[in-house]
Amino acid sequence: MGNHLLKGKKGIIFGALNEQSIAWQVALKCKQEGADIVLSNLPIAIRFSDTKELGKLIGAPVLGADITKVEDIEQLYDLSLKHFKTKKIDFILHSVANSLNIRKKHAYTDLNYDYMFKTLDVSAISFHKILQVAYQKDLLNEWGSVLAMSYIAAQRIFPDYNEMADAKVLLEGIARNFGYHYGVKRNVRINTVSQSPTLTRSGGVIGGFSEFMQYADDMSPLGNAPANDLAGFCVTLFSDYTKYVTMQNIYHDGGFNATGLSGKLIDTVTSTVAKKKKKRNKYTLQSS
Ligand SMILES: NC(=O)c1ccc[n+]([C@@H]2O[C@H](COP(=O)([O-])OP(=O)(O)OC[C@H]3O[C@@H](n4cnc5c(N)ncnc54)[C@H](O)[C@@H]3O)[C@@H](O)[C@H]2O)c1
Repeated sequence: MGNHLLKGKKGIIFGALNEQSIAWQVALKCKQEGADIVLSNLPIAIRFSDTKELGKLIGAPVLGADITKVEDIEQLYDLSLKHFKTKKIDFILHSVANSLNIRKKHAYTDLNYDYMFKTLDVSAISFHKILQVAYQKDLLNEWGSVLAMSYIAAQRIFPDYNEMADAKVLLEGIARNFGYHYGVKRNVRINTVSQSPTLTRSGGVIGGFSEFMQYADDMSPLGNAPANDLAGFCVTLFSDYTKYVTMQNIYHDGGFNATGLSGKLIDTVTSTVAKKKKKRNKYTLQSS
């Protein structure tokens, strides 16, 4: 049972692939809070994933669009308005990313630039595209809200996050820049949410992801933020209770970004050092 925070609101959600996807959890929560939704993903992803199942579950049409193609976005917006039988909508979620260099295991010091252009297009410039088409079509209602998903690698170095870190820097920059223009035009809010590592198909391809998740969990006073709680947070950002929050990158990470060192991590380091010492002593005793 929800609290009707999004009662009467209509939105488009990009990027729900399977139950683990962040967009899937956000779509469920938005529905629970009273919103009507259109789901969108790559046509090929729709064919081979569970997106249609989610559509059935929440009574939402599933419309194919390659988010890097402006003509696809235009068509998607037109079809969505037809479906909603309205002239405008209230919110959009961009929950889309892909890195070919990570998938093909190119190190950051050995990037393929064709792949990198594609990564930046899919994961960041597409955010500008969905905003620009919305802006030019005057798609969003006054006080509408648009969100994209980011990660703290935009601010700090996580070596295996590779070129996706640069994509997130661009994504957050677009939120700030477009947030200004859309704010002036229609009081539309634009923000990015910087989420804890979350086990999804995209997350899982990053090198050493499980160790990395454990590290983040140990560092965060509240632990890693689960996708379901992220979904609740996104609902508040789509709701009328956050009308003056715009052009921000907001951390939803259990306190990770503000923590330098945690007791849990000290315990882990201490026990690793003790194990190493024990091993070294054993070796010294054997060789003397
Ligand atoms: N999983 C994490 O740890 C984590 C943490 C912080 C931020 N994020 C971000 O959350 C967002 C969602 O990722 P996720 O973890 O839910 O993974 P996911 O793999 O479930 O979702 C990524 C989605 O992008 C879609 N997509 C890829 N190329 C597309 C294109 N050209 N057009 C339309 N859709 C396309 C995929 O089909 C998929 O549905 C991404 O921006 C990701 O960087 C993820």
